[in-house]
Amino acid sequence: MEAKQMITLALSKGRIFEETLPLLRAAGIEVLEDPEKSRKLILTTNQPDVRVLVVRATDVPTYVQYGGADLGITGKDTLIEHAADWGGSTSAAGLYQPLDLNIAKCRISVAVRADFDYASAVKQGSRLKVATKYVAIAREFFATKGVHVDLIKLYGSMELAPLVGLSDAIVDLVSTGNTLKANHLVEVEHIMDISSQLVVNQAALKLKQASIRRIIDAFASAVGK
Ligand code: PRP
Repeated sequence: MEAKQMITLALSKGRIFEETLPLLRAAGIEVLEDPEKSRKLILTTNQPDVRVLVVRATDVPTYVQYGGADLGITGKDTLIEHAADWGGSTSAAGLYQPLDLNIAKCRISVAVRADFDYASAVKQGSRLKVATKYVAIAREFFATKGVHVDLIKLYGSMELAPLVGLSDAIVDLVSTGNTLKANHLVEVEHIMDISSQLVVNQAALKLKQASIRRIIDAFASAVGK
């Protein structure tokens, strides 16, 4: 009998990992190690031919694009930013995006200091300084709105930027809103809703069609699609 081909799934630690576990269970897959406790980056599962890679959230599309993983789960935010480097399309990046998993839901918003009059600044056509990790999303949003912006790329703790005068506004993920509140920032625009997406390497889908399809179908029925 032909040996089963290994299926590799790339995930990031934290909320995406936790919320993916029930979907994996629906596909009959139990991850045997806890990435919060183990330093291992390749986790085994109860299925000898399925393994999980623990990677940085922003690296998930890269692993899947280059075939380091067959499948990955990543936020829509991360996927849009990654695709921007490939002309804006996930398929040009060699990725197939078959399913919105409706997990790790949050939104991406514009926020400013409570004492900054955003509406007037926009109305007057002022040039805004915007700090963000989500440069492609922010560029597209303000361009569509016709607002001139200077984008300042940061890699985290965006909330600090308006507090120390680095920027007038930030574009960042908001979930509970607690981080904004704790830093005296207010949400002034809701750019888009975010949830995690399943991405698949296009070549892997052809070569390992049956095993990958089984996982996609199990995930789809677990999320009611
Ligand atoms: C995100 C985001 C905010 C925070 C919002 O950061 O950048 O800082 O969550 O969540 P809240 O509205 O529930 O307070 P995350 O913890 O994902 O880490 P990051 O800074 O690496 O993006």
